[in-house]
Amino acid sequence: MIICVCNSISDKAITTAVTSGANTPSLVYKSCGAKPQCGSCTEYIKQEINQVLTTEK
Ligand code: FES
Repeated sequence: MIICVCNSISDKAITTAVTSGANTPSLVYKSCGAKPQCGSCTEYIKQEINQVLTTEK
């Protein structure tokens, strides 16, 4: 599923980024080689980060 439409970042790509240490939306963008554009995905990215971090523990 694509989470960030502007940059075509999928939930899988976000999970991978978070697993390798990106724990804020801006780090996730960076790790995907992208920049925030419309910003409407930020909330979803945050949720995704929380989900990954809570399931990892
Ligand atoms: S959907 Fe991610 S910046 Fe627009």
